[in-house]
Amino acid sequence: MQHFADALRAAVAAAAEVGIDTVRLEAPRDEKQGDLAVPCFLLAKARGIPPPAMAAKLAAAMAPGGPQAVAEVTASAAGPYLNFRIARPALAQAVFAEIAAAGARYGGSSEGAGKRIVIDFSSPNIAKPMHVGHIRSTILGAALTRIFSHLGYTTVGINHIGDWGAQFGGLVVAIRRWRGEVDLEREPVRGLLDLYQRSKAAVESDPAFHEEAVAAYRELESGREGPVRETWRWVTAVSMRGFEATYKRLGIEHDLVRGESYYENLLEPTIQRIVAAGITEISEGALIVQLSTVDKGLKETPCLLRQTNGTTLYATRDLAAMFQRFEEFGFERCLYVVGSEQRLHFRQLKAVLKRLELPWEPRVEHVDFGLLLGPGRVKLASRKGAVLVLDDLIDEVVDEARRIIQEKNPDLAQADQVAEAVGIGAIVFNDLKRERVKDVVFDKSEILSFEGETGPYLQYTHARLASILRKAAANGEGTAEPDWSVLENAGPILMRLARLGDVVRGAAVRAEPSEISNYLLALARDLNSWYVENRVLGEAPGVTGARLALIRASKSVLGNGLGLLGIRPLEAM
Ligand code: ARG
Repeated sequence: MQHFADALRAAVAAAAEVGIDTVRLEAPRDEKQGDLAVPCFLLAKARGIPPPAMAAKLAAAMAPGGPQAVAEVTASAAGPYLNFRIARPALAQAVFAEIAAAGARYGGSSEGAGKRIVIDFSSPNIAKPMHVGHIRSTILGAALTRIFSHLGYTTVGINHIGDWGAQFGGLVVAIRRWRGEVDLEREPVRGLLDLYQRSKAAVESDPAFHEEAVAAYRELESGREGPVRETWRWVTAVSMRGFEATYKRLGIEHDLVRGESYYENLLEPTIQRIVAAGITEISEGALIVQLSTVDKGLKETPCLLRQTNGTTLYATRDLAAMFQRFEEFGFERCLYVVGSEQRLHFRQLKAVLKRLELPWEPRVEHVDFGLLLGPGRVKLASRKGAVLVLDDLIDEVVDEARRIIQEKNPDLAQADQVAEAVGIGAIVFNDLKRERVKDVVFDKSEILSFEGETGPYLQYTHARLASILRKAAANGEGTAEPDWSVLENAGPILMRLARLGDVVRGAAVRAEPSEISNYLLALARDLNSWYVENRVLGEAPGVTGARLALIRASKSVLGNGLGLLGIRPLEAM
Protein backbone atom coordinates (compact mmCIF):
# COMPACT_ATOMS: atom_id res chain seq x y z
CA MET A 1 0.00 0.00 0.00
CA GLN A 2 2.79 2.35 0.96
CA HIS A 3 4.34 1.55 -2.38
CA PHE A 4 1.24 2.79 -4.27
CA ALA A 5 0.90 5.80 -2.03
CA ASP A 6 4.52 6.86 -2.56
CA ALA A 7 4.35 6.35 -6.32
CA LEU A 8 1.12 8.31 -6.51
CA ARG A 9 2.29 11.26 -4.50
CA ALA A 10 5.46 11.50 -6.55
CA ALA A 11 3.53 11.34 -9.82
CA VAL A 12 0.96 13.92 -8.73
CA ALA A 13 3.69 16.25 -7.49
CA ALA A 14 5.50 15.98 -10.82
CA ALA A 15 2.32 16.53 -12.88
CA ALA A 16 1.27 19.52 -10.79
CA GLU A 17 4.83 20.84 -10.60
CA VAL A 18 4.73 21.22 -6.83
CA GLY A 19 6.76 19.76 -3.98
CA ILE A 20 5.74 16.31 -2.77
CA ASP A 21 4.77 17.69 0.66
CA THR A 22 1.90 19.60 -0.93
CA VAL A 23 0.32 16.32 -2.00
CA ARG A 24 -2.00 14.77 0.60
CA LEU A 25 -3.58 11.36 0.21
CA GLU A 26 -6.79 10.43 1.92
CA ALA A 27 -9.54 7.86 1.77
CA PRO A 28 -12.34 9.02 -0.57
CA ARG A 29 -15.57 9.75 1.25
CA ASP A 30 -17.35 7.15 -0.84
CA GLU A 31 -15.41 3.99 -1.60
CA LYS A 32 -17.15 3.76 -4.99
CA GLN A 33 -15.18 6.83 -6.10
CA GLY A 34 -11.87 5.11 -5.68
CA ASP A 35 -9.29 3.76 -3.30
CA LEU A 36 -7.29 6.90 -2.65
CA ALA A 37 -8.04 10.57 -3.18
CA VAL A 38 -5.95 13.71 -3.47
CA PRO A 39 -7.78 16.90 -2.46
CA CYS A 40 -6.63 19.51 -4.97
CA PHE A 41 -7.10 22.69 -2.92
CA LEU A 42 -3.47 23.15 -1.93
CA LEU A 43 -2.16 22.14 -5.34
CA ALA A 44 -4.54 24.52 -7.09
CA LYS A 45 -3.57 27.35 -4.81
CA ALA A 46 0.11 26.72 -5.42
CA ARG A 47 -0.48 26.91 -9.19
CA GLY A 48 -3.15 29.62 -9.19
CA ILE A 49 -5.82 27.45 -10.87
CA PRO A 50 -9.33 26.66 -9.55
CA PRO A 51 -9.31 23.30 -7.72
CA PRO A 52 -11.74 21.45 -10.05
CA ALA A 53 -9.70 22.51 -13.07
CA MET A 54 -6.56 21.32 -11.33
CA ALA A 55 -8.17 17.95 -10.63
CA ALA A 56 -9.23 17.57 -14.26
CA LYS A 57 -5.83 18.55 -15.58
CA LEU A 58 -4.08 16.05 -13.32
CA ALA A 59 -6.54 13.29 -14.15
CA ALA A 60 -5.70 13.78 -17.82
CA ALA A 61 -1.97 13.85 -17.18
CA MET A 62 -2.14 10.68 -15.15
CA ALA A 63 -4.40 8.72 -17.48
CA PRO A 64 -2.96 5.47 -18.76
CA GLY A 65 -0.39 6.41 -21.38
CA GLY A 66 -0.14 9.99 -20.10
CA PRO A 67 3.29 11.37 -19.24
CA GLN A 68 2.91 10.77 -15.48
CA ALA A 69 0.90 7.55 -15.67
CA VAL A 70 1.48 5.19 -12.80
CA ALA A 71 1.11 1.63 -13.95
CA GLU A 72 -1.83 -0.18 -12.33
CA VAL A 73 -3.46 3.05 -11.20
CA THR A 74 -6.15 5.04 -12.96
CA ALA A 75 -7.16 8.55 -12.10
CA SER A 76 -10.46 10.41 -12.39
CA ALA A 77 -11.58 13.82 -11.23
CA ALA A 78 -14.69 14.47 -9.18
CA GLY A 79 -15.04 18.08 -8.21
CA PRO A 80 -11.87 19.30 -6.58
CA TYR A 81 -10.69 15.75 -5.91
CA LEU A 82 -8.45 13.51 -7.89
CA ASN A 83 -9.48 9.91 -7.32
CA PHE A 84 -7.39 6.86 -7.87
CA ARG A 85 -8.29 3.29 -8.37
CA ILE A 86 -5.63 0.66 -8.04
CA ALA A 87 -5.98 -2.32 -10.34
CA ARG A 88 -7.22 -5.26 -8.30
CA PRO A 89 -4.57 -7.79 -9.26
CA ALA A 90 -1.78 -5.37 -8.31
CA LEU A 91 -3.56 -4.30 -5.14
CA ALA A 92 -4.21 -7.89 -4.08
CA GLN A 93 -0.62 -8.97 -4.58
CA ALA A 94 0.81 -5.98 -2.76
CA VAL A 95 -1.55 -6.27 0.21
CA PHE A 96 -1.16 -10.04 0.56
CA ALA A 97 2.61 -9.79 0.38
CA GLU A 98 2.65 -7.16 3.09
CA ILE A 99 0.37 -9.18 5.36
CA ALA A 100 2.35 -12.38 4.87
CA ALA A 101 5.66 -10.64 5.52
CA ALA A 102 4.54 -8.87 8.69
CA GLY A 103 2.56 -11.80 10.12
CA ALA A 104 1.54 -11.12 13.70
CA ARG A 105 3.11 -7.66 13.42
CA TYR A 106 0.84 -6.62 10.56
CA GLY A 107 -1.05 -3.43 11.35
CA GLY A 108 1.72 -2.36 13.68
CA SER A 109 4.68 -0.06 13.30
CA SER A 110 7.68 1.22 15.16
CA GLU A 111 6.49 4.81 15.37
CA GLY A 112 6.38 4.63 19.16
CA ALA A 113 9.94 3.36 19.56
CA GLY A 114 11.66 4.95 22.50
CA LYS A 115 8.44 6.51 23.84
CA ARG A 116 6.63 5.43 26.95
CA ILE A 117 2.92 5.27 27.58
CA VAL A 118 1.80 4.78 31.17
CA ILE A 119 -1.58 3.10 31.47
CA ASP A 120 -3.25 2.99 34.87
CA PHE A 121 -5.96 0.35 34.61
CA SER A 122 -8.08 -2.14 36.49
CA SER A 123 -7.00 -0.78 39.91
CA PRO A 124 -9.49 -2.64 42.13
CA ASN A 125 -9.69 -2.25 45.88
CA ILE A 126 -8.22 -4.70 48.34
CA ALA A 127 -10.73 -6.88 50.19
CA LYS A 128 -13.48 -6.02 47.73
CA PRO A 129 -14.29 -7.85 44.53
CA MET A 130 -13.82 -5.99 41.26
CA HIS A 131 -17.03 -4.16 40.54
CA VAL A 132 -18.38 -3.52 37.07
CA GLY A 133 -16.29 -0.35 36.72
CA HIS A 134 -13.12 -2.33 37.33
CA ILE A 135 -14.24 -4.91 34.81
CA ARG A 136 -14.52 -2.30 32.08
CA SER A 137 -11.27 -0.65 33.13
CA THR A 138 -9.49 -4.00 33.02
CA ILE A 139 -10.74 -4.86 29.54
CA LEU A 140 -10.25 -1.38 28.06
CA GLY A 141 -6.87 -0.84 29.68
CA ALA A 142 -5.51 -4.18 28.56
CA ALA A 143 -6.67 -3.52 25.00
CA LEU A 144 -5.01 -0.10 24.99
CA THR A 145 -1.80 -1.62 26.28
CA ARG A 146 -1.73 -4.06 23.37
CA ILE A 147 -2.64 -1.36 20.84
CA PHE A 148 0.20 0.93 21.92
CA SER A 149 2.68 -1.96 22.05
CA HIS A 150 1.68 -2.87 18.51
CA LEU A 151 2.77 0.62 17.46
CA GLY A 152 6.16 0.13 19.07
CA TYR A 153 5.58 2.15 22.23
CA THR A 154 6.93 0.89 25.52
CA THR A 155 3.86 0.52 27.66
CA VAL A 156 3.88 0.60 31.44
CA GLY A 157 0.68 -0.94 32.76
CA ILE A 158 0.16 0.00 36.37
CA ASN A 159 -2.36 -1.50 38.76
CA HIS A 160 -3.10 1.33 41.19
CA ILE A 161 -4.87 -0.87 43.71
CA GLY A 162 -6.79 0.67 46.58
CA ASP A 163 -4.78 -0.66 49.49
CA TRP A 164 -4.80 2.37 51.76
CA GLY A 165 -7.29 4.35 53.79
CA ALA A 166 -9.15 4.26 57.09
CA GLN A 167 -11.20 1.22 56.11
CA PHE A 168 -8.07 -0.90 56.55
CA GLY A 169 -8.17 -0.24 60.30
CA GLY A 170 -11.56 -1.92 60.51
CA LEU A 171 -10.51 -4.74 58.25
CA VAL A 172 -7.44 -5.53 60.35
CA VAL A 173 -9.63 -5.76 63.45
CA ALA A 174 -12.18 -7.93 61.64
CA ILE A 175 -9.39 -10.31 60.66
CA ARG A 176 -8.11 -10.35 64.22
CA ARG A 177 -11.53 -11.38 65.44
CA TRP A 178 -13.08 -13.52 62.74
CA ARG A 179 -10.35 -14.86 60.53
CA GLY A 180 -11.19 -18.45 61.50
CA GLU A 181 -14.74 -18.14 60.25
CA VAL A 182 -14.03 -17.80 56.53
CA ASP A 183 -12.10 -20.00 54.13
CA LEU A 184 -9.67 -17.55 52.60
CA GLU A 185 -7.56 -20.23 50.99
CA ARG A 186 -10.39 -21.50 48.84
CA GLU A 187 -12.42 -18.36 48.46
CA PRO A 188 -10.16 -15.34 48.92
CA VAL A 189 -12.35 -12.81 47.13
CA ARG A 190 -15.63 -13.81 48.74
CA GLY A 191 -14.10 -14.51 52.16
CA LEU A 192 -12.49 -11.08 52.35
CA LEU A 193 -15.62 -9.38 51.12
CA ASP A 194 -17.47 -11.05 53.95
CA LEU A 195 -14.97 -9.78 56.53
CA TYR A 196 -14.94 -6.35 54.96
CA GLN A 197 -18.70 -6.03 55.10
CA ARG A 198 -18.80 -7.22 58.70
CA SER A 199 -16.09 -4.72 59.62
CA LYS A 200 -18.06 -1.86 58.03
CA ALA A 201 -21.15 -2.81 60.02
CA ALA A 202 -19.18 -3.20 63.25
CA VAL A 203 -17.47 0.19 62.88
CA GLU A 204 -20.94 1.74 62.72
CA SER A 205 -22.63 -0.19 65.49
CA ASP A 206 -19.94 -1.14 67.99
CA PRO A 207 -18.01 1.72 69.65
CA ALA A 208 -15.32 -0.60 70.99
CA PHE A 209 -14.75 -2.01 67.52
CA HIS A 210 -14.64 1.50 66.12
CA GLU A 211 -11.99 2.58 68.61
CA GLU A 212 -9.88 -0.48 67.92
CA ALA A 213 -10.18 0.18 64.18
CA VAL A 214 -9.04 3.80 64.51
CA ALA A 215 -6.06 2.71 66.58
CA ALA A 216 -5.19 0.04 64.02
CA TYR A 217 -5.23 2.56 61.17
CA ARG A 218 -3.09 4.97 63.15
CA GLU A 219 -0.63 2.15 63.74
CA LEU A 220 -0.64 1.34 60.04
CA GLU A 221 -0.04 4.95 59.06
CA SER A 222 2.88 5.22 61.47
CA GLY A 223 4.80 2.93 59.15
CA ARG A 224 5.99 0.74 62.05
CA GLU A 225 6.55 -2.94 61.47
CA GLY A 226 4.40 -5.14 63.66
CA PRO A 227 1.27 -7.29 63.70
CA VAL A 228 -0.99 -4.63 62.17
CA ARG A 229 1.27 -4.03 59.20
CA GLU A 230 1.72 -7.77 58.83
CA THR A 231 -2.01 -8.35 58.73
CA TRP A 232 -2.48 -5.55 56.20
CA ARG A 233 0.28 -7.01 54.06
CA TRP A 234 -1.26 -10.44 54.29
CA VAL A 235 -4.73 -9.26 53.39
CA THR A 236 -3.31 -7.45 50.36
CA ALA A 237 -1.56 -10.60 49.25
CA VAL A 238 -4.69 -12.73 49.63
CA SER A 239 -6.75 -10.22 47.68
CA MET A 240 -4.14 -9.93 44.95
CA ARG A 241 -4.11 -13.69 44.58
CA GLY A 242 -7.81 -13.53 43.84
CA PHE A 243 -7.41 -10.73 41.29
CA GLU A 244 -4.50 -12.45 39.64
CA ALA A 245 -6.51 -15.59 38.99
CA THR A 246 -8.98 -13.44 37.06
CA TYR A 247 -6.26 -11.59 35.17
CA LYS A 248 -4.71 -14.88 34.18
CA ARG A 249 -8.02 -16.10 32.88
CA LEU A 250 -8.37 -12.96 30.77
CA GLY A 251 -4.75 -13.15 29.61
CA ILE A 252 -3.94 -9.81 31.23
CA GLU A 253 -0.80 -8.64 32.96
CA HIS A 254 0.32 -5.43 34.57
CA ASP A 255 3.94 -4.37 34.47
CA LEU A 256 3.69 -2.92 37.94
CA VAL A 257 1.37 -3.42 40.87
CA ARG A 258 1.69 -0.22 42.82
CA GLY A 259 -1.11 0.40 45.21
CA GLU A 260 -1.90 3.70 46.84
CA SER A 261 0.31 2.67 49.77
CA TYR A 262 3.34 2.67 47.47
CA TYR A 263 3.26 6.46 47.52
CA GLU A 264 3.09 6.84 51.30
CA ASN A 265 6.63 8.19 51.61
CA LEU A 266 6.10 10.56 48.72
CA LEU A 267 3.04 12.27 50.18
CA GLU A 268 4.88 14.78 52.37
CA PRO A 269 7.38 15.76 49.64
CA THR A 270 4.47 16.12 47.21
CA ILE A 271 2.59 18.41 49.55
CA GLN A 272 5.77 20.40 50.21
CA ARG A 273 6.37 20.83 46.51
CA ILE A 274 2.86 22.19 45.97
CA VAL A 275 3.13 24.46 49.02
CA ALA A 276 6.51 25.74 47.81
CA ALA A 277 4.92 26.69 44.50
CA GLY A 278 2.76 29.08 46.49
CA ILE A 279 -0.59 27.82 45.26
CA THR A 280 -2.01 26.35 48.48
CA GLU A 281 -4.37 27.87 51.00
CA ILE A 282 -5.68 26.85 54.38
CA SER A 283 -9.46 26.65 54.40
CA GLU A 284 -11.27 25.61 57.58
CA GLY A 285 -8.11 23.92 58.74
CA ALA A 286 -7.64 21.92 55.55
CA LEU A 287 -4.88 22.39 52.97
CA ILE A 288 -6.38 23.10 49.57
CA VAL A 289 -5.54 24.32 46.07
CA GLN A 290 -8.03 26.71 44.46
CA LEU A 291 -8.59 25.79 40.84
CA SER A 292 -10.93 28.39 39.38
CA THR A 293 -8.15 30.46 37.81
CA VAL A 294 -7.31 27.58 35.48
CA ASP A 295 -10.74 25.95 35.22
CA LYS A 296 -13.82 28.07 35.88
CA GLY A 297 -16.01 25.03 36.36
CA LEU A 298 -14.06 24.08 39.48
CA LYS A 299 -14.89 27.21 41.46
CA GLU A 300 -16.76 25.32 44.16
CA THR A 301 -14.52 22.30 44.16
CA PRO A 302 -10.92 23.01 45.12
CA CYS A 303 -8.49 20.13 45.41
CA LEU A 304 -8.11 18.95 48.99
CA LEU A 305 -4.57 17.86 49.82
CA ARG A 306 -4.81 17.34 53.57
CA GLN A 307 -7.81 17.16 55.81
CA THR A 308 -8.17 19.04 59.09
CA ASN A 309 -7.31 15.87 61.03
CA GLY A 310 -4.03 15.60 59.14
CA THR A 311 -4.84 12.68 56.87
CA THR A 312 -4.16 12.79 53.15
CA LEU A 313 -6.61 11.84 50.44
CA TYR A 314 -7.08 9.80 47.30
CA ALA A 315 -6.17 12.96 45.33
CA THR A 316 -2.96 13.50 47.30
CA ARG A 317 -1.87 9.97 46.55
CA ASP A 318 -2.73 10.37 42.88
CA LEU A 319 -0.71 13.58 42.64
CA ALA A 320 2.26 11.90 44.29
CA ALA A 321 1.89 9.03 41.82
CA MET A 322 1.73 11.39 38.81
CA PHE A 323 4.93 13.21 39.75
CA GLN A 324 6.64 9.93 40.46
CA ARG A 325 5.51 8.47 37.14
CA PHE A 326 6.69 11.46 35.18
CA GLU A 327 10.08 11.31 36.87
CA GLU A 328 10.52 7.59 36.43
CA PHE A 329 9.10 7.17 32.94
CA GLY A 330 9.14 10.59 31.27
CA PHE A 331 5.92 9.45 29.66
CA GLU A 332 4.61 10.55 26.29
CA ARG A 333 1.10 10.01 27.62
CA CYS A 334 -0.21 8.91 30.99
CA LEU A 335 -3.67 7.37 30.68
CA TYR A 336 -6.07 6.77 33.53
CA VAL A 337 -8.62 4.19 32.49
CA VAL A 338 -11.24 4.98 35.09
CA GLY A 339 -15.03 5.31 34.94
CA SER A 340 -16.77 8.58 34.12
CA GLU A 341 -17.94 8.95 37.72
CA GLN A 342 -14.38 10.06 38.55
CA ARG A 343 -14.36 12.86 35.98
CA LEU A 344 -14.29 15.56 38.62
CA HIS A 345 -11.35 13.92 40.39
CA PHE A 346 -9.16 13.83 37.27
CA ARG A 347 -10.24 17.27 36.18
CA GLN A 348 -9.08 18.54 39.57
CA LEU A 349 -5.75 16.75 39.31
CA LYS A 350 -5.12 18.22 35.88
CA ALA A 351 -6.07 21.65 37.17
CA VAL A 352 -3.47 21.31 39.94
CA LEU A 353 -0.84 20.46 37.30
CA LYS A 354 -1.92 23.54 35.36
CA ARG A 355 -1.61 25.73 38.41
CA LEU A 356 1.90 24.32 38.84
CA GLU A 357 2.47 25.28 35.19
CA LEU A 358 3.85 21.88 34.38
CA PRO A 359 4.31 21.66 30.62
CA TRP A 360 3.44 17.98 30.58
CA GLU A 361 -0.08 18.50 31.94
CA PRO A 362 -1.71 17.78 28.52
CA ARG A 363 -0.05 14.37 28.49
CA VAL A 364 -2.16 13.27 31.43
CA GLU A 365 -5.52 11.99 30.22
CA HIS A 366 -8.56 10.58 31.89
CA VAL A 367 -9.68 7.77 29.59
CA ASP A 368 -13.20 7.59 30.92
CA PHE A 369 -16.00 5.19 30.16
CA GLY A 370 -19.70 4.61 30.78
CA LEU A 371 -21.46 2.10 32.98
CA LEU A 372 -21.97 -1.60 32.50
CA LEU A 373 -25.68 -2.23 32.97
CA GLY A 374 -27.96 -5.25 33.04
CA PRO A 375 -30.74 -5.86 30.50
CA GLY A 376 -33.32 -3.10 30.82
CA ARG A 377 -30.48 -0.76 31.80
CA VAL A 378 -30.70 -1.64 35.48
CA LYS A 379 -27.70 -1.95 37.75
CA LEU A 380 -25.95 -5.22 37.03
CA ALA A 381 -26.19 -7.62 39.96
CA SER A 382 -25.20 -11.22 40.41
CA ARG A 383 -27.61 -14.13 40.59
CA LYS A 384 -26.82 -14.93 44.20
CA GLY A 385 -25.91 -11.76 45.99
CA ALA A 386 -25.84 -8.03 45.75
CA VAL A 387 -22.18 -7.73 44.79
CA LEU A 388 -21.25 -8.95 41.38
CA VAL A 389 -18.01 -10.92 41.31
CA LEU A 390 -16.22 -10.81 37.97
CA ASP A 391 -15.30 -14.48 38.12
CA ASP A 392 -18.95 -15.42 38.60
CA LEU A 393 -19.87 -13.35 35.61
CA ILE A 394 -17.25 -15.04 33.46
CA ASP A 395 -18.34 -18.48 34.73
CA GLU A 396 -21.93 -17.75 33.87
CA VAL A 397 -21.13 -16.69 30.32
CA VAL A 398 -18.67 -19.53 29.77
CA ASP A 399 -21.26 -22.08 30.95
CA GLU A 400 -23.74 -20.70 28.47
CA ALA A 401 -21.12 -20.73 25.71
CA ARG A 402 -20.41 -24.38 26.50
CA ARG A 403 -24.09 -25.22 26.20
CA ILE A 404 -24.40 -23.46 22.84
CA ILE A 405 -21.27 -25.13 21.46
CA GLN A 406 -22.40 -28.54 22.68
CA GLU A 407 -25.64 -28.00 20.81
CA LYS A 408 -24.14 -26.67 17.59
CA ASN A 409 -21.04 -28.78 17.38
CA PRO A 410 -21.12 -31.78 19.73
CA ASP A 411 -17.94 -33.34 18.31
CA LEU A 412 -15.74 -30.30 18.73
CA ALA A 413 -12.28 -31.11 20.09
CA GLN A 414 -11.19 -29.21 23.21
CA ALA A 415 -14.70 -27.92 23.70
CA ASP A 416 -13.90 -26.63 27.19
CA GLN A 417 -11.09 -24.39 26.04
CA VAL A 418 -13.20 -23.15 23.17
CA ALA A 419 -16.10 -22.37 25.52
CA GLU A 420 -13.77 -20.41 27.79
CA ALA A 421 -12.43 -18.41 24.83
CA VAL A 422 -15.91 -17.78 23.43
CA GLY A 423 -17.33 -16.72 26.80
CA ILE A 424 -14.47 -14.34 27.44
CA GLY A 425 -14.57 -13.14 23.84
CA ALA A 426 -18.24 -12.30 24.28
CA ILE A 427 -17.65 -10.27 27.44
CA VAL A 428 -14.59 -8.48 26.11
CA PHE A 429 -16.11 -7.54 22.77
CA ASN A 430 -19.28 -6.30 24.42
CA ASP A 431 -17.14 -3.91 26.42
CA LEU A 432 -15.16 -2.70 23.43
CA LYS A 433 -17.66 -2.51 20.63
CA ARG A 434 -19.06 0.95 21.27
CA GLU A 435 -17.40 4.25 21.99
CA ARG A 436 -16.14 3.84 25.51
CA VAL A 437 -18.05 6.78 27.02
CA LYS A 438 -21.32 5.05 26.16
CA ASP A 439 -22.95 2.73 28.66
CA VAL A 440 -22.78 -0.96 27.88
CA VAL A 441 -25.67 -3.36 28.35
CA PHE A 442 -24.75 -6.82 29.43
CA ASP A 443 -27.24 -9.32 28.03
CA LYS A 444 -25.88 -12.83 28.13
CA SER A 445 -27.79 -14.28 25.20
CA GLU A 446 -27.18 -11.25 23.03
CA ILE A 447 -23.43 -11.06 23.56
CA LEU A 448 -23.12 -14.78 22.82
CA SER A 449 -25.05 -14.68 19.58
CA PHE A 450 -23.03 -16.05 16.66
CA GLU A 451 -24.80 -13.69 14.27
CA GLY A 452 -24.97 -10.32 15.97
CA GLU A 453 -22.28 -7.71 16.49
CA THR A 454 -20.46 -9.94 18.92
CA GLY A 455 -17.11 -11.44 19.80
CA PRO A 456 -18.35 -14.96 18.98
CA TYR A 457 -19.47 -13.75 15.53
CA LEU A 458 -15.92 -12.61 14.81
CA GLN A 459 -14.43 -15.76 16.30
CA TYR A 460 -16.82 -17.80 14.21
CA THR A 461 -15.87 -15.92 11.06
CA HIS A 462 -12.21 -16.57 11.84
CA ALA A 463 -12.87 -20.27 12.45
CA ARG A 464 -14.73 -20.50 9.18
CA LEU A 465 -11.75 -19.08 7.29
CA ALA A 466 -9.50 -21.51 9.14
CA SER A 467 -11.71 -24.39 8.14
CA ILE A 468 -11.57 -23.43 4.45
CA LEU A 469 -7.78 -23.33 4.62
CA ARG A 470 -7.66 -26.71 6.35
CA LYS A 471 -9.87 -28.29 3.70
CA ALA A 472 -7.81 -26.75 0.92
CA ALA A 473 -4.64 -28.16 2.44
CA ALA A 474 -6.24 -31.59 2.79
CA ASN A 475 -7.31 -31.51 -0.87
CA GLY A 476 -3.96 -30.21 -2.01
CA GLU A 477 -5.70 -27.15 -3.45
CA GLY A 478 -4.21 -23.70 -3.71
CA THR A 479 -0.82 -24.59 -5.07
CA ALA A 480 -1.47 -23.34 -8.63
CA GLU A 481 -0.53 -19.88 -9.89
CA PRO A 482 -3.40 -17.62 -8.75
CA ASP A 483 -5.55 -15.93 -11.34
CA TRP A 484 -5.71 -12.53 -9.67
CA SER A 485 -8.33 -11.20 -12.07
CA VAL A 486 -11.02 -13.07 -10.10
CA LEU A 487 -10.50 -10.66 -7.20
CA GLU A 488 -11.99 -7.83 -9.28
CA ASN A 489 -15.03 -7.86 -6.98
CA ALA A 490 -12.99 -7.93 -3.76
CA GLY A 491 -11.81 -4.30 -3.88
CA PRO A 492 -13.49 -3.14 -0.66
CA ILE A 493 -12.10 -6.13 1.25
CA LEU A 494 -8.61 -5.55 -0.12
CA MET A 495 -8.72 -1.88 0.79
CA ARG A 496 -9.97 -2.72 4.25
CA LEU A 497 -7.19 -5.23 4.78
CA ALA A 498 -4.73 -2.56 3.69
CA ARG A 499 -6.06 -0.12 6.29
CA LEU A 500 -5.56 -2.02 9.54
CA GLY A 501 -2.51 0.06 10.39
CA ASP A 502 -4.44 3.34 10.05
CA VAL A 503 -7.22 1.97 12.22
CA VAL A 504 -4.82 0.88 14.96
CA ARG A 505 -3.17 4.29 14.89
CA GLY A 506 -6.51 6.06 15.19
CA ALA A 507 -7.53 3.82 18.07
CA ALA A 508 -4.31 4.74 19.86
CA VAL A 509 -4.60 8.47 19.25
CA ARG A 510 -8.12 8.59 20.62
CA ALA A 511 -7.58 5.78 23.17
CA GLU A 512 -10.60 4.18 21.57
CA PRO A 513 -10.43 0.40 21.01
CA SER A 514 -13.96 0.46 19.53
CA GLU A 515 -12.45 1.75 16.29
CA ILE A 516 -10.81 -1.65 15.91
CA SER A 517 -14.04 -3.43 16.89
CA ASN A 518 -15.98 -1.60 14.20
CA TYR A 519 -13.30 -2.28 11.66
CA LEU A 520 -13.41 -6.01 12.43
CA LEU A 521 -17.19 -6.13 12.22
CA ALA A 522 -17.12 -4.45 8.83
CA LEU A 523 -14.40 -6.78 7.58
CA ALA A 524 -16.28 -9.85 8.78
CA ARG A 525 -19.50 -8.64 7.17
CA ASP A 526 -17.73 -8.01 3.85
CA LEU A 527 -16.05 -11.39 3.96
CA ASN A 528 -19.17 -13.31 4.83
CA SER A 529 -21.12 -11.79 1.97
CA TRP A 530 -18.25 -12.14 -0.50
CA TYR A 531 -17.93 -15.78 0.46
CA VAL A 532 -21.58 -16.50 -0.34
CA GLU A 533 -21.06 -15.39 -3.96
CA ASN A 534 -17.55 -16.65 -4.50
CA ARG A 535 -16.93 -20.34 -4.05
CA VAL A 536 -13.39 -20.92 -2.93
CA LEU A 537 -12.79 -24.66 -3.09
CA GLY A 538 -13.18 -26.89 -6.13
CA GLU A 539 -12.95 -24.12 -8.73
CA ALA A 540 -10.38 -23.87 -11.52
CA PRO A 541 -6.96 -24.01 -9.79
CA GLY A 542 -6.12 -20.37 -10.57
CA VAL A 543 -9.47 -19.18 -9.23
CA THR A 544 -9.22 -21.25 -6.07
CA GLY A 545 -5.64 -20.08 -5.61
CA ALA A 546 -6.53 -16.39 -5.74
CA ARG A 547 -9.53 -16.77 -3.47
CA LEU A 548 -7.57 -18.82 -0.97
CA ALA A 549 -4.97 -16.08 -0.84
CA LEU A 550 -7.72 -13.64 0.11
CA ILE A 551 -8.98 -16.03 2.79
CA ARG A 552 -5.49 -16.50 4.19
CA ALA A 553 -4.77 -12.78 4.40
CA SER A 554 -8.18 -12.03 5.87
CA LYS A 555 -7.77 -14.67 8.54
CA SER A 556 -4.44 -13.19 9.49
CA VAL A 557 -5.83 -9.65 9.75
CA LEU A 558 -8.91 -10.75 11.67
CA GLY A 559 -6.68 -12.72 14.03
CA ASN A 560 -4.40 -9.75 14.65
CA GLY A 561 -7.33 -7.43 15.32
CA LEU A 562 -8.99 -9.86 17.71
CA GLY A 563 -5.69 -10.35 19.50
CA LEU A 564 -5.35 -6.60 20.03
CA LEU A 565 -8.75 -6.52 21.68
CA GLY A 566 -7.92 -9.49 23.93
CA ILE A 567 -10.09 -12.06 22.16
CA ARG A 568 -8.70 -15.43 21.16
CA PRO A 569 -9.03 -16.13 17.43
CA LEU A 570 -10.26 -19.71 17.14
CA GLU A 571 -9.34 -22.33 14.56
CA ALA A 572 -12.59 -24.20 15.10
CA MET A 573 -15.73 -23.67 17.12
N1 ARG B 1 -9.21 2.10 43.19
C1 ARG B 1 -9.97 3.13 42.54
C2 ARG B 1 -11.45 2.78 42.57
O1 ARG B 1 -11.80 1.64 42.71
C3 ARG B 1 -9.56 3.33 41.11
C4 ARG B 1 -8.18 3.86 40.94
C5 ARG B 1 -7.95 4.42 39.60
N2 ARG B 1 -6.61 4.90 39.42
C6 ARG B 1 -6.14 6.03 39.95
N3 ARG B 1 -4.88 6.32 39.75
N4 ARG B 1 -6.90 6.84 40.65
O2 ARG B 1 -12.30 3.65 42.43
